[in-house]
Amino acid sequence: MAKGKLTTVYFCNSCGYESSKWMGQCPGCHSWNTFTEETVNRQTAKGRTSLSSALSPSNGKPVSLSGIELKDEDKIDTHFKELNRVLGGGIVRGSLTLVGGDPGIGKSTLLLQVCRQLSTDNIPVLYISGEESLKQIKMRAERIGEFTDSLKLLCETDLSVVEETIRKEKPSVVIIDSIQTMFSEEVSSAPGSVSQVREATWVLLKLAKTLAVSIFIVGHVTKEGTVAGPRVLEHMVDTVLYFEGDRHASYRILRGVKNRFGSTNEIGVFEMRNEGLIEVLNPSEYMLSGRPKDAAGSIVVCALEGTRPLLIELQALICHTNFGIPRRQTTGADLNRLNLLMAVLEKRLGLHLGECDAYVNVAGGIKLNEPAIDLGMVLAIVSGYKNIAIPQDVMAFGEVGLSGEVRSVSMAEARIKEAAKLGFKTCILPAGNREQVKDAGGEMRLIYVENVKDALNAL
Ligand code: TYD
Ligand code: MG
Repeated sequence: MAKGKLTTVYFCNSCGYESSKWMGQCPGCHSWNTFTEETVNRQTAKGRTSLSSALSPSNGKPVSLSGIELKDEDKIDTHFKELNRVLGGGIVRGSLTLVGGDPGIGKSTLLLQVCRQLSTDNIPVLYISGEESLKQIKMRAERIGEFTDSLKLLCETDLSVVEETIRKEKPSVVIIDSIQTMFSEEVSSAPGSVSQVREATWVLLKLAKTLAVSIFIVGHVTKEGTVAGPRVLEHMVDTVLYFEGDRHASYRILRGVKNRFGSTNEIGVFEMRNEGLIEVLNPSEYMLSGRPKDAAGSIVVCALEGTRPLLIELQALICHTNFGIPRRQTTGADLNRLNLLMAVLEKRLGLHLGECDAYVNVAGGIKLNEPAIDLGMVLAIVSGYKNIAIPQDVMAFGEVGLSGEVRSVSMAEARIKEAAKLGFKTCILPAGNREQVKDAGGEMRLIYVENVKDALNAL
């Protein structure tokens, strides 16, 4: 243990908020009961200011942009198109990437598969696991496929050993699985605590910048709050990816929430199979498989995830309520939006929805919160209410305002092209998008609408 002044502080396990006393609710992220007591060494915290030399070799002198040379800045191809897109083209040299997600969602599997692809390109990769034994990793690797010898494995939790190994081996890519198991002697609190996780990330950040190795950190999201979550380190790393999905469903979504090298909100879709994760290159097709035929209350909407249009089925079940207060429920959509749209329909179209229960479901377990799905939701509600099915080949998008007007949305052309690719024949869209779209639809019939009444008349 390094000498220094030891002080007791309280950290929020969810967001890393620091406080000198215990609090029931975190002022930073408003979660309850997440504060834990930790002993920190103020001396080591002060001694950690040497990152500037790693970031800039100019010894503190300001330089102009033209004086900076870009070399070796090429991106490493992971051979996963879905992952490359989320990363902004590939793995940037010297970058620190956080891969967060619930335990068991497939983070280790994904990263081991990335290791496999890199090792077949003879890129030196080091996989450091603090969770599994070498034999366990081997067992997983056998399910995934063949590896070459440019992948090296290490089972270690001691941060100083990890640091030394990275310095000695000088790999191009390092995987740390997981950050919550790493332990530094410099910090007195237990592994997984906020100060340990921060210290480990700090050391890895310095390594990534000085040695120009790309480091991936795995961070578990935990509901119980006994270990520090990945949100604690989001501000320190270059890129934050979250691996999401229902553990019981087979598909997984890799979402970029922060990226210093590309656009955020990009998603990559994977399917978990027996032999590991497989890319889903056409997620719209995947999401629409198993759609019921001629069912009332069902329509396909086009939502945008990053730069990518995604066709998803929206279902609404409307039935007469048996209680005084009708029940409204959504899965994957915003409940407030549903209430608002139902009020718009009641007022502007005179539908008696106040006596109805309403359930809205986004098929496939995806969460949509883009206003562009409003028009689809309105049509699904009316279709469910009147019990009349919307034709199979109709797709709709548009934002609905309080007076029932349909407002234009961004990237209408991309949405139409995606629908055309999957064989949709009719698209209902805002009149305000007429200019941008022009003849993007090709064979498709485009119905421009000003308000929800027009849209219903069109059907
Ligand atoms: P894992 O990568 O260990 O999750 P994490 O590192 O995020 O905790 O994923 C484990 C799950 O994936 C486990 O439930 C089994 C499943 N799995 C497959 O279905 N196929 C496979 O080829 C592999 C390796 C795992
Ligand atoms: Mg794992």
